[in-house]
Amino acid sequence: MYSAGKIILGLGVFAAAVTAPVWYGLAHGKSSPPDLERPTEAKDCVEPAAYMRARHMELLDSWRDAVVRRGEHVYVAADGKHHDMSLTGTCLRCHSEPSKFCVRCHDYAGVEVFCWDCHQQKKRS
Ligand code: HEC
Ligand code: HEC
Ligand code: HEC
Repeated sequence: MYSAGKIILGLGVFAAAVTAPVWYGLAHGKSSPPDLERPTEAKDCVEPAAYMRARHMELLDSWRDAVVRRGEHVYVAADGKHHDMSLTGTCLRCHSEPSKFCVRCHDYAGVEVFCWDCHQQKKRS
């Protein structure tokens, strides 16, 4: 029987397999697009850069769940610093040109990120 679901799943698996070497390398710090604009005013990210490279998606997921489901707003980083759990307010305060950072890397890795459908790419002033 014809199954659109299976075909779509198959296409997804195929796309993941084709792009895997790129994002595997990215997530493990082995390659990055050459023209990423990293912040110059701050020296450190919320967590160490290697951790951020590999795990920023999970961190953002956990921030969203904490804020939206549990009403919590403060993240305590490994170094003891406190951060407001906000994509626009915190991440983009330092990474103020996501089109030259987040988006540039996602395009390079072939990753589709839909957060910008709702979240502003400009920090609140
Ligand atoms: C206080 C400023 C600041 C905040 C807030 C911040 N970052 Fe960073 N981020 C940096 C700096 C500086 C670097 C580069 C660090 C380095 O190279 O050691 C960095 C590096 C990264 C990297 C690794 C990039 C690479 O390949 O070198 C990712 C991914 C990242 N940040 C995502 C995020 C996300 C997602 C958030 C919000 C959860 C966030 N950052 C919040 C300053 C910040
Ligand atoms: C150095 C490259 C790089 C940078 C810089 C980067 N990302 Fe990513 N991002 C990735 C890769 C690679 C994936 C997918 C890999 C995976 O799922 O394991 C990803 C996945 C994500 C996901 C999960 C998407 C999904 O639907 O699964 C979110 C959310 C995300 N990134 C947000 C951000 C934000 C916000 C920034 C900027 C503050 C940022 N990323 C900067 C490489 C990067
Ligand atoms: C359909 C719209 C929509 C999409 C798509 C969406 N969000 Fe959100 N997000 C919201 C709303 C609404 C809130 C609640 C805002 C509040 O409580 O201040 C929120 C809150 C959050 C928060 C905590 C508060 C803040 O201001 O950042 C984080 C972190 C977050 N989302 C991350 C993400 C990430 C990462 C993605 C992409 C993987 C994403 N969101 C995609 C609508 C969306």
